[in-house]
Amino acid sequence: MSFGNLVLIGVALFAILGAVGAFTIAFRRSQTDQAPEPVDPAAGLSTETIEADKSMAGVRVEPISVAAAEDAVDEIVVEVDAEETEPAPSTVAIEVVETQRVVEVSPEEAGVTRRQFFNRALNVTFFSFLGIMGVNSLAFFWPRLSGGFGTDVDAGDLAEVKSQVFTSDGSVLPLFVPEAKAYIVPAPSSLSEQYVGLQVETEGLMALFQRCVHLGCRVPWCGPSQGFECPCHGSKYNSVGEWFAGPAPRNLDRFVVEVQNGRFIIKTGSVVLTSRAPSLTVKYPQGPSCIGAVAVEEA
Ligand code: FES
Repeated sequence: MSFGNLVLIGVALFAILGAVGAFTIAFRRSQTDQAPEPVDPAAGLSTETIEADKSMAGVRVEPISVAAAEDAVDEIVVEVDAEETEPAPSTVAIEVVETQRVVEVSPEEAGVTRRQFFNRALNVTFFSFLGIMGVNSLAFFWPRLSGGFGTDVDAGDLAEVKSQVFTSDGSVLPLFVPEAKAYIVPAPSSLSEQYVGLQVETEGLMALFQRCVHLGCRVPWCGPSQGFECPCHGSKYNSVGEWFAGPAPRNLDRFVVEVQNGRFIIKTGSVVLTSRAPSLTVKYPQGPSCIGAVAVEEA
């Protein structure tokens, strides 16, 4: 797994954790916003207080403002002063509870709220995720300038390649080059007119694209029949990729090849398409078909 994929997975996990955190906070808020449970007003009061409250049954109590309360107390003090002739003035203790004040502050004074913090964190996570996805996609589609499929692939020393492809008994054994997604096969001694001038043969070798031209399956080599046989829908080609049977609309595609400094080079950026061969330049089949053998066993 590449470093980019690990980073991608890490960011995705972070985004999921962020979403879960945001959901949890939103859920808690919705719980606290709900109406509170009704409270028993007599809870915690003494028996005497409850009895005193009962004696007030039927009396309507209305809230008054602090100023009105102070005026009322002043009146009581005046009345008491008037009634009391003897020294010992009476004192009435008043506790004025300051009402709660709501002070509006500017956004600068308030700073970043929790809601803003989580919104920004989610935005940063989301756009980071998008950015990494974009970079990965770009890297995936960006044409490779050196090495790998789509470029000139060095298949090895020409002599070594030949020694592997040409067998002592005269049969064909294609050399598969994974980096080029190609089979190197012996070219026919007399090249078909289809390939003249296309630079698809050099030093008696050709490089065939592994992909079936029908729907793109990888076409394996069948030793007994000495041809390529597609297991997907049964298209068959001879050892130089010429169409023989099946739904494939043309021969196997092939690459431009050349020899540079004794190395066999497959130019995988130059794919050559050819129509179905009017006649096979190499005999096929030369033995039992691999697809047919499988089909017989399954039946
Ligand atoms: S993909 Fe090969 S025959 Fe269909």
